[in-house]
Amino acid sequence: MKRVLSGIQPTSDSFHLGNYLGAVKQWVELQDGHDAFYCIVDLHALTVETDPALLRKRTLASAAQLLALGISPEKSTLFVQSQVPQHNQLGWIMECLTGFGEASRMTQFKDKSSKAGADSARVGLFTYPMLQAADILLYQADYVPVGEDQRQHIELTRDLAGRFNSRYGQTFQLPEAYILKTAAKINDIQEPTAKMSKSSGSVAGVIEIMDSPEANLKKIKSAVTDAGREVKFDPIEKPGISNLLTIHSALSGSSISALEGEFAGKGYGDFKAAVAEVVVEYLRPIRAAALELLEDEKHLLDILHQGSQKAGAVAQETISATYKNLGVVL
Ligand code: AMP
Ligand code: TRP
Repeated sequence: MKRVLSGIQPTSDSFHLGNYLGAVKQWVELQDGHDAFYCIVDLHALTVETDPALLRKRTLASAAQLLALGISPEKSTLFVQSQVPQHNQLGWIMECLTGFGEASRMTQFKDKSSKAGADSARVGLFTYPMLQAADILLYQADYVPVGEDQRQHIELTRDLAGRFNSRYGQTFQLPEAYILKTAAKINDIQEPTAKMSKSSGSVAGVIEIMDSPEANLKKIKSAVTDAGREVKFDPIEKPGISNLLTIHSALSGSSISALEGEFAGKGYGDFKAAVAEVVVEYLRPIRAAALELLEDEKHLLDILHQGSQKAGAVAQETISATYKNLGVVL
């Protein structure tokens, strides 16, 4: 079976629809027929200022949401990055393989550090992609399902794996980014030319999985639309409507062209009401399941500890081989 690994940061109380449709939905699908490892990357979340109570709450909330969205602990290994210390061990080795200039070209670092201001950006933000490479290479992953924005980090991971293998002998599987064309890139529903993001300026544009059905209904009914009246997929002229079409289609399974047909001659109001209905009914049972999981913290922690143990065993094999090939005295 091919191995899959991905990670998500516990940096918000709720995942949003972009995280689900751009990433986690693929995770759920890949559980069948693959050996899947899914990691809540809490160490990556430390690259920005964090509050201890919030980090804990969000780590558990992330686990509950992943389970509620369909990650099954029987099928996949779901674990917390910091519980598997081999991530830090291999992270350092990856840092020692990476050129300073190479790391400086990572666009996510450039974006995030320019937002934070050069003086407040942390060294950890700079070395973030090397820890991510370690996350992936520790598990000898074949595929890494992520959103398009992560492609450059996966390329770096491949470069580092290839570099290590050619200098020190075959040690790491070269992973491939698994980025579905159909995996929707979801935009902000208030500012539909920008991607839906937890760091977005206004919460009104972000549909959160843990938001109440009422709140999401209201948000979608107030989504920004475009000039004209026709419900048509045209991301340049009609970014708002196109984004809502993408969302509807991804959740309902109807094709975009079927939806254009269904709403021909109807106005934006009817269309938004239909999108709201689809989103709210899709998310309702997921939110309820996540809330239920959060009520039994012990059970949730048990699942994570079991996952971390399974992950740790695989990670240790890779670290041992890596150290041996590096000439570390064991
Ligand atoms: P982040 O919220 O940046 O930690 O992203 C977690 C995962 O969700 C990554 O794999 C991203 O590529 C994906 N993702 C985040 N925002 C979006 C979006 N608006 N549309 C599609 N995928 C997204
Ligand atoms: N950098 C990824 C993001 O921002 C999260 C991540 C960390 C990740 N480690 C990973 C994704 C390993 C895939 C594989 O979304």
